Amino acid sequence: MKVMVIGSGAREHCLVWKISRSSYVDKIYAVPGNAGISEIAECVDLGIGKDSFNDLVNFAEDKKIDLTVVGPEAPLVDGIVDFFTERGFKIFGPTRDAAMLEGSKVFTKRLLQKYKIPTPDGVVFGKEEYEDALSYVESISDESFPVVVKADGLAAGKGVVIAEDREKAIEAIRNCFVKKIFGDSGSRIIIEEFLVGFEVSILCLCDGETIIPMALAQDYKRIYEGDRGKNTGGMGSYSPVPSVTHEVYERILNEIIYPTYRAIKEEGICYKGILYGGLLISDGKPYLLEYNCRFGDPETQAILPRLEDDLVPLLLACVYGELNERSISWDNQKCVC
Ligand code: GLY
Repeated sequence: MKVMVIGSGAREHCLVWKISRSSYVDKIYAVPGNAGISEIAECVDLGIGKDSFNDLVNFAEDKKIDLTVVGPEAPLVDGIVDFFTERGFKIFGPTRDAAMLEGSKVFTKRLLQKYKIPTPDGVVFGKEEYEDALSYVESISDESFPVVVKADGLAAGKGVVIAEDREKAIEAIRNCFVKKIFGDSGSRIIIEEFLVGFEVSILCLCDGETIIPMALAQDYKRIYEGDRGKNTGGMGSYSPVPSVTHEVYERILNEIIYPTYRAIKEEGICYKGILYGGLLISDGKPYLLEYNCRFGDPETQAILPRLEDDLVPLLLACVYGELNERSISWDNQKCVC
């Protein structure tokens, strides 16, 4: 088989590394890849934005690529899976409609609220409601800070602000609605309650019907030693996560992940690929903070080295809707990124 991996980071390096160990694969292309990836795959200098979808699918045709695996969220939210599928190429990931779970935090918050899936309380404001958003922040009692201000759309991991006080919350709202630092992604925001606890990530394989959770990982979010800096998309990670007890793990699946997958189906969305839940565990109870529509970065780097199975048949089972015939097994060793 020939496989193409789209993306250029450490997550994609890990994906390429794991795919390179598959007994089914004899050639891997990475677009655009990176220096590390070039040691184990052929890196091809094509763009991965919307404007490059045609070049990518032409490349897949030319090289007779059997499977494309997408690392980052932006091409998924822009509909790369729809584009490849319409041209008859196999690609791992959700369609544009399904990727809305990451592409719009407002969409996801409303879905969770509709299906009563545990998530922090949150209020949505559009940019035309700037004054209302400010009044809302003024109405929050001093003891209720910090609050979380989230930009609706993709913001490269920078769209979530934990506002320690009123001033910081107002600044975050201004940044979205007035300075427009996130462009259209910031034209709607959610102001959300801040829950105290610890975060954990769960990445699940999905084929539209069946969902199989992978090993848990935890990423550490704040930059600088001692968690002194700003929130990031994740500075490192480890797996497994011993602070999640068996009981909490069962609650994560039964109160959040499985109900969400049923809700997605009920909304008429066929979700294939990775469904990644970013969870907060507060007083032993799990809450969904966000969904992502792809492999986590840097969680992937701590999870895939523990996967004992060949990844490629699992990815193909997601694409073909045959995940119910699969199971996965994990090495008990610990992995740190
Ligand atoms: N580690 C967070 C993310 O992949 O979005």
